[in-house]
This record gives sequence, C-alpha cells and structure tokens, in this order.
Amino acid sequence: MKFSSCFSSCFSHPSETTTTTDINKQEPQGENDENFTVFSYGELRLATRGFSASNKIGEGAFGCVYKGVLANGSIVAVKMLSVELESMRGEREFVSEISTLTNLKHENLVTLKGCCVDGTRRLLVYNYMENNSLAQILLGKQQNRIKLGWEARQAISLGVARGLAYLHEEVKPHIVHRDIKASNILLDQNLIPKVSDFGLSRILRNNVSHISTHVAGTLGYLAPEYALSGRLTRKTDVYSFGVLLLEIISGLAVVDFDLEHGEHYLVQKAWELYRANSILQLVDPIVGMNYPKEEAIRFIKVGLLCVQERARLRPEMSTALKMLTNDVDIEGVQISQPGLVADLMNIKLGQKTTSHSLYSKASNLESTPSTLSSCS
Ligand SMILES: Nc1ncnc2c1ncn2[C@@H]1O[C@H](COP(=O)(O)OP(=O)(O)OP(=O)(O)O)[C@@H](O)[C@H]1O
Ligand SMILES: [Mg+2]
Repeated sequence: MKFSSCFSSCFSHPSETTTTTDINKQEPQGENDENFTVFSYGELRLATRGFSASNKIGEGAFGCVYKGVLANGSIVAVKMLSVELESMRGEREFVSEISTLTNLKHENLVTLKGCCVDGTRRLLVYNYMENNSLAQILLGKQQNRIKLGWEARQAISLGVARGLAYLHEEVKPHIVHRDIKASNILLDQNLIPKVSDFGLSRILRNNVSHISTHVAGTLGYLAPEYALSGRLTRKTDVYSFGVLLLEIISGLAVVDFDLEHGEHYLVQKAWELYRANSILQLVDPIVGMNYPKEEAIRFIKVGLLCVQERARLRPEMSTALKMLTNDVDIEGVQISQPGLVADLMNIKLGQKTTSHSLYSKASNLESTPSTLSSCS
C-alpha cells in the first residue's frame, strides 16, 4: 500500500486519533516516496500473528521487535514503539520523518520500509535480517554465536564504516547516528552488515534522547564529551565506531566482567596492549593464527584513533574507512590517549545505579524517553 492510498485503513480509529485530518492532508513528497509505505495496524497484526510471543525477536529501549510475513510474502521486522506519546513527535511529523528516512538507501543500512500510526500506537517496519545482530552472533550466548574468521570481521568492519560514512558525509543534512553499538549492527543472510536505528532521534521531540541506558554496556560506547556534556557531533559516532571495531576484532564486549579478573574495559585493554607493543594479543583466538597480521594491527590502530579522548583528533568516517583499506597510510600517525567514560565516572557494571550515576553528573545530557509497559 503506497502512502497516498492508505489512509482509510491506517487511520481507521478516528476516535483514538486526534490529528487524523492533519495527516490526511499530507501529500506524498516526491518521486522517492514510492519507497515508503504506511501500513495498517491490521496488516501488521496479521503479519506477526497477533504480535505473538513466538514472533518476538528482540526488545530494546524503544519497544519490542517482531518477525512478520506480509501478504506479499516479504519478511519484515516490526518495531512496536513503546515510547510515551508525549516524547514523540506528532502524527504528521512522525510520518514525515519516517518517510524521509525510508529514502536513505545504502547497502550497509537496514531498509526501513515504512510505518504505522494507529491511535496511540506507532510502529516501524524494516526488512528482516536473517543473522540477527553482532551483539548476538559475536558477543551473545555461546549457542547463538557464529565463528567469524578474519575475512568476515574485515568485511563487517568495512561495511559498518561505509554505512556510517554515508550517513555522515553523503546524506544532506548529515545524520549523526547517536547509538552505534553491536546490537544496532544487523546482518543479512550473507553476513553483510546493516546499520539499524539510524535517525531515530528524529521521531522524538526536541530534548529527548533515544540513547538507552538500560544496558550497562551501552555507556561504554559513548564518547566522553557526549556522556559528560551532551555535546553531539559526528565524532561522537566515530568514537562508538572505534569501540565497535575493537569488539569485532577481539570478540570482547566493551565492558565485561568475570569473577577472576573483575571488570574489563576493552578500550583500556587495547590501549595497554598498544603501549606494550603487544597489540595482536587483542585478536580473537577464534580467528586462528592464519590471518594478515599487518592488516589486523592497522585495524586495531584505527580503532584506537577513533576512540581518542580529543574529538578533533579522531578521523572522519570516510578517512577511517580509507585508513582501514590502507588508502590512507597510518604508519607514522601518533595515537593519543583514549577517552574512557568508565574512568571518568567510575561506572560499575551490574550496579543498578549505572545510568543514574552517569546522568546525575552529566547534568547537560538530554533526558531519556520514558517508556510504557513492556510487551508480551
Ligand atoms: N530488522 C531486523 N531484523 C532482524 N532482527 C532485528 C531487526 N531489528 C531488530 N532486530 C532484533 O531485535 C533486537 C531489538 O532491537 P532494538 O533496536 O529494539 O533494540 P536494541 O538495538 O537491541 O537495543 P536499544 O534499544 O538499547 O538500542 C535487536 O537486538 C535484534 O536482535
Ligand atoms: Mg536497535
């Protein structure tokens, strides 16, 4: 169903929808709008077998995600937003923002197909990614992991860098992702990485952040200047990308805990190994011994360049990509000390106060959206 022809079924509950007429007035916005679909709630309910628990594939700060099959046979992931309505933009703006986001097309971005507005409900519809997220296949439970060799890790790293460089430097006006982390890197059937959840801050009203703090690890991806003062630039994403790159190469989570050694901060570990000239110790042992050592060293160095404390020293995404592919030589480049939110804030993994301790100190950081009750 195209945007222009769907209103009757999309907004079939006028009693629950106060601004229906407003949205009904909205015209399709140019030729690219054929990418954009406004789904009816009934259509998505049918596709997900009534949003059944067996169709649920994940849950994040924004709500639950369900696998679904549309009437035309295409497989989708439906995100039922559970953000309180007052944190979200009005219906018309919401639809308009989603329409804009569906026009962003890149091999390394998850395709957003459209949305659904039904009374107080808001849903987003994406292409379904068969291999779930990097958080699951790289860092998740043993039974969900996929053994990734060097080539797969290299391809995933380059793909993520390309997707981000596109958002930062090709999309006009540029998009800062704000939430680059392993669970937002999805993988298709060929393990091609797809950046997801880009542009989500646009559907929220001003001064509401969509960065979730319910997972302690999320904090480890935040550039210190963002965590401390809420200062958000493309270099904030570059920091998160650097952390992700180190995770991809090491198979270690950004913050980890084991009984023997206590807490580990991946960025700190990488920095210490670099200083001790033992950088290759960071490479995941699963990779084996037969991998290109020079390239691995380069990738880790690029990771460290991206997480440098001073944002202006971090490379732009397109430069980071060229550094990875060796089109920009980093042989003699000085790497300065990484920024560590954990150091600054003394964040303790597993303590319920994690996010609060951060946010109470980071007084300028935007507030996170309040969410409604969780889904089935
Ligand atoms: N398009 C998709 N295809 C397949 N699985 C998906 C898709 N989108 C999301 N998922 C799954 O649903 C999970 C939840 O996604 P969601 O974006 O809601 O939260 P998150 O990224 O894990 O965390 P947070 O809300 O903290 O950012 C993902 O981790 C992934 O496993
Ligand atoms: Mg996500």
